[in-house]
Amino acid sequence: RMFRIAAIPADGVGKEVVAAGRAVLDALAEGSAGAFAFEWEEFPWGCEFYERTGRMIDDDGLDRLKDFDAIYFGAVGWPTVPDHISLWGLRLKICQNFDQWANVRPVQFLPGITSPLRKADDTELDWVVVRENSEGEYAGLGGRNLSGRGPGGEVAVQSALFTEVGCERIMRFAFDLARTRARRKVSSVTKSNAQQYGMVLWDDVFKRVAADYPDVETESVLVDAMSAKFVLHPEDLSVVVASNLNADILSDLGSALAGSLGLAASANLNPKRRFPSMFEPVHGSAPDIAGQGLANPIGAVGSAALMLEHFGLPDQAARLHKAIEATTAAGILTRDVGGSASTEDVTKALIDGLNA
Ligand code: NAI
Ligand code: MG
Repeated sequence: RMFRIAAIPADGVGKEVVAAGRAVLDALAEGSAGAFAFEWEEFPWGCEFYERTGRMIDDDGLDRLKDFDAIYFGAVGWPTVPDHISLWGLRLKICQNFDQWANVRPVQFLPGITSPLRKADDTELDWVVVRENSEGEYAGLGGRNLSGRGPGGEVAVQSALFTEVGCERIMRFAFDLARTRARRKVSSVTKSNAQQYGMVLWDDVFKRVAADYPDVETESVLVDAMSAKFVLHPEDLSVVVASNLNADILSDLGSALAGSLGLAASANLNPKRRFPSMFEPVHGSAPDIAGQGLANPIGAVGSAALMLEHFGLPDQAARLHKAIEATTAAGILTRDVGGSASTEDVTKALIDGLNA
């Protein structure tokens, strides 16, 4: 089979890690004896494109993306462009237009990488953050200058949107995912003691949906307590479902606990498959290390593995994971995880690991 993939490296280390992910995927396809292949088209959108054209994406960009099998994304954002313009103008635009309402972010502990959790065997730990990706705190509702009072007296409102349909579908997604895992458990995260409307709706829907999955263990935990639980009792987690903002923060925490933001993978899924889904590392464009060959490509390569699962190639995804584990176990590590290997060194080791 031929899979058509739109690559959008965008900014900073996004370019380096997308190049790495492409090289690894192409090596995988080459070794498949024609069983599957990837056809790439690369798009130049991002902050440099914005500075040239005043747009983050071509006017017909979404239309050009809509027939691809998947989108492979790097990271968007650069110090010369305000972050709310770059993020909304490209990444969130794609997520919303293609109704990618489920964001899956596995927290993965790898051999050879020291986790700040320092449990006896960190590689035994793994859990998945399922992020509601279409509404919640990132619905974009609100405005500035609402007081009309001018400098010093400005009032801004930022509202969160919760719909019953939106809550229910992400929860069913989380429960279905839990059923595929060794530990059948879903932890729901809110701040419903302080946010009494949307978050209480979330809790109500969670109770209702949970009743349809009697074989899955559940718990509801407030986000502050869940932050502590990530650090103190991660062995008690399997699937963690949370709203857009809460899951965004928790998944960064999870990847830091696993050793580095550079390791974390994610999938922005359109579960009904009417539109392409998008696969990207959790991290941003890392301007502090961009262009120096220091970027850890494992988050991007792990995201490519999620893409392979989405394509119905779980064995190939498993091969990628094995190559990742072999590489970290051999101590071929970038600086963020305590090594001195370059992006290129790690990429080469991953490709060698595919054939080991
Ligand atoms: P960041 O994730 O880019 O960097 C945070 C820290 O992690 C930095 O110290 C960086 O060096 C390190 N890091 C990130 N990725 C790494 C990798 N692959 N290998 C090694 N180290 C890595 O977050 P930051 O600095 O808050 O944001 C930078 C820009 O990225 C901003 O413009 C922000 O808006 C954007 N951003 C974009 C995202 C996306 O496209 N999905 C997500 C998060 C931030
Ligand atoms: Mg984030």
